[in-house]
Amino acid sequence: GFYVGTAVAGGGHHLEQDYPDPFTSDREYRKILGQQFNSVSAENQMKWEFIHPERDRYDFEAADAIADFADRHRQVVRGHTLLWHSQNPEWLEQGDFSKEELRSILKEHITTVVGRYAGRIQQWDVANEIFDEQGNLRAEENIWIRELGPEIIADAFRWAHEADPEALLFFNDYGVEDDNAKSDAYYALTQELIAEGVPVHGFSAQAHLSTRYGFPGGLEENLRRFDELGLETAITELDVRMDLPESGVPTDAQLEQQADYYQRTLSACLAVEDCNSFTIWGFTDKYSWVPVFFEGEGSATVMTEDFARKPAFHALYNTL
Ligand code: XIL
Repeated sequence: GFYVGTAVAGGGHHLEQDYPDPFTSDREYRKILGQQFNSVSAENQMKWEFIHPERDRYDFEAADAIADFADRHRQVVRGHTLLWHSQNPEWLEQGDFSKEELRSILKEHITTVVGRYAGRIQQWDVANEIFDEQGNLRAEENIWIRELGPEIIADAFRWAHEADPEALLFFNDYGVEDDNAKSDAYYALTQELIAEGVPVHGFSAQAHLSTRYGFPGGLEENLRRFDELGLETAITELDVRMDLPESGVPTDAQLEQQADYYQRTLSACLAVEDCNSFTIWGFTDKYSWVPVFFEGEGSATVMTEDFARKPAFHALYNTL
């Protein structure tokens, strides 16, 4: 009943355009993916820009491959994501649509994508990163909230639930590990939606951590308050980046600190009753998004580029 997952690399903007897709081309990668995890998440392959590249065309190839791989390896799948401000296709962001059109575009997308994988997705990140650091809705950046108002969020959950009544439907965000303005905003919103009978089932913390900022010591307590609302909780995108020394190779002390962060994140989840899903955002530095997105930082996953196990790998293994 406990799921240990990883993001499946592919489609990332940090990988070279013509870089062979690790999921299809890297045998060792696939082997570890099949052996070490019982849950997988699409790192990019189910995002709008990949799965819905044109107004009238969906591209399910990469997402189907992940779902099929998961079936063959008896893994569950976390779907990611349906309503987000980022990685949307140009036709959508630059399009000139009326409010009614936009609403039906979102409904059609959710119905089509969630419906295609109905019964095969354990958890869907329905709404991703809808609040900013101050706990305000991203009303400018997020096309759906900007054009259709905050009520569209509840509709997204309703449409997803209609399309797959078995999937657990989540709010997902980064920077919500501790009790803070952002997680408070989720706490208030989920409470409200639950009271209205909206099918919201979970709250998840991405947990993109950095040793620069310290460990979010309030994680367990914060997850627990959502648990007490009757929600599932989850860790969905854990990685622990660090400032790399000139050599590019982390010191033993850095790797120990990283292992400690990984272990504490897992322990917090294990300690909360309905925290049943724990996912790391890739398992090897070979394909990690971190060095490209965070200048000077790296070595964020549990395995080196050569798939050597770091202390963090053993720390997780020994904690499970
Ligand atoms: C990242 C991927 O890892 C990259 O490959 C991609 O280029 C950008 O997005 N929060 C999320 C994830 O919800 O979807 C993001 O994934 C990381 C931050």
